Amino acid sequence: MNSQTAQPNDTSEGGDSAEDRVRIFDTTLRDGEQAPGFSMDRRAKLCMAQALEALGVDILEAGFPQASPDDFAAVEEIARSLRNTTVCALARCQTGDIDTSARALERAHRSRIHLFLSTSPLHREHKLGMSKQQVLDTAVASIERARKYCADVEFSAEDALRTEPEFLVEVFSAAIAAGATTLNAPDTVGYTTPSEMVELFTYLRKNVRDAHKAVFSTHCHDDLGMAVANSLAAVSAGARQVECTINGIGERAGNAALEEIVMALKVRAPHFGIATGIDTRKLYPTSRLLTQLTGQVVQRNKAVVGENAFAHESGIHQHGMLKHRSTYEIMRPQDVGIAETTLVLGKHSGRHALRQRLETLGHTLDDEAMESVFKHFKALADRKRDIRDEDLEALALGLDPDATGPWHLVQLNTSSHLGGNASANVKLGHEDGREVSEAAIGDGPVDAVLRAIERATGTDMVLKRFQVRAMSEGGDAQGHAQLTARHAQRDWQGSSVSTDIIEATAHAALAIVNRIERQARDNSADASVLQGATA
Ligand code: KIV
Ligand code: ZN
Repeated sequence: MNSQTAQPNDTSEGGDSAEDRVRIFDTTLRDGEQAPGFSMDRRAKLCMAQALEALGVDILEAGFPQASPDDFAAVEEIARSLRNTTVCALARCQTGDIDTSARALERAHRSRIHLFLSTSPLHREHKLGMSKQQVLDTAVASIERARKYCADVEFSAEDALRTEPEFLVEVFSAAIAAGATTLNAPDTVGYTTPSEMVELFTYLRKNVRDAHKAVFSTHCHDDLGMAVANSLAAVSAGARQVECTINGIGERAGNAALEEIVMALKVRAPHFGIATGIDTRKLYPTSRLLTQLTGQVVQRNKAVVGENAFAHESGIHQHGMLKHRSTYEIMRPQDVGIAETTLVLGKHSGRHALRQRLETLGHTLDDEAMESVFKHFKALADRKRDIRDEDLEALALGLDPDATGPWHLVQLNTSSHLGGNASANVKLGHEDGREVSEAAIGDGPVDAVLRAIERATGTDMVLKRFQVRAMSEGGDAQGHAQLTARHAQRDWQGSSVSTDIIEATAHAALAIVNRIERQARDNSADASVLQGATA
């Protein structure tokens, strides 16, 4: 772990400096990912982590290394890969957790250990069975241990908003003395209100000993729909770190949505007077990437990134907009990375035009990724006359590494009959050189394709969710197929786009099979490394 780059106590961050800035702590890959339906494999997590670094998040919570070998490997891989963002690992106040987190962060350029321990009476009595003194001693001992590994240590008082404020002051004062550099007061159960938030943060900043030595942080859940409002209230009362997730994903009703907090601070800058380091033009593409990787779409009317967020349907609104945009528009779609024009390239467009357009849409690709998108773009242009922004976005998002083997689709034929069964024939290629053909009958062409793929690959899957959406308008629009299937007691997601929805479905099913096969491969590689290490 590179302690040189770890952040020292910074006295300016806890107060109101001239250039006031709030740190954005993203926990999409930890609190977000642990919610049912949002699990991501290692490759998806790495892809998301890189997008979050490009977005400009200050701290990225990559996972909980002690939870499983897979979580450990994901944190380690992200820690190795990111250059500017601080990579954070979650740990309970237990020796094993702290040591494991430190190991997962060893190769990080900037790292943080995030410790948490419940402080509320309910949790002390029913969850931990600990007295106040035991909670205090455990927190202090754990912070001191974590500080031996890392200069940047965050302490979270779980269920802080239902903790006696005087006890919270005691715990946070002891935490600072033990070396914690960030103090987080989570509303773990989404119970609090904005005015209570202001009251608590004002009280903490006034009464915690040496409060200026630490950054105060907020972490809100959305059980009563107030996570964003509560986070902003905490900021207005001096919190200088906000913990949040893309699209607001997270435990139960979710966490505070990053894009909403960032845009509120930007649009209402004169009100808050506090900046973030986020490149807001990457908000929409990052949100779309997450939906692609998890297979979970956001609701149409979701603030900032929903499909309807910038649509003006009523005649009165449209009339006003035509006269002066600001009559009904408080932010421009381009500010969050939604491009203004939609009709773009065609079959004669070159790499340069494609790259430029993708950059306008917020997708900056390296040369290898660009070559792959260009190849798919040309193939699409042969099938589709007008290529719209949504199509390009789909191609860029289709760069999901899961699209690349070990299995790929060689041939696909389906037929269906009114009132009868459907049949599918697939020919699949494997990177080891095998080609396998299989046929199956199903209740419809989608069912038949899935059964044929199951047979050909020998992977059993139980389909749990299937959704197809048009990515743009018109009869030749690309269809986005998203599947969730159960295999080995886990839900797996796959998605793909094509102008042919059955083909998109087959690719999505193969993405699932590929994930399963690669995961098994990664696990056996990890096991042999571990064996080697203990031999
Ligand atoms: O909600 C919560 O209390 C948490 C902590 C681990 C920070 O997620
Ligand atoms: Zn949480």
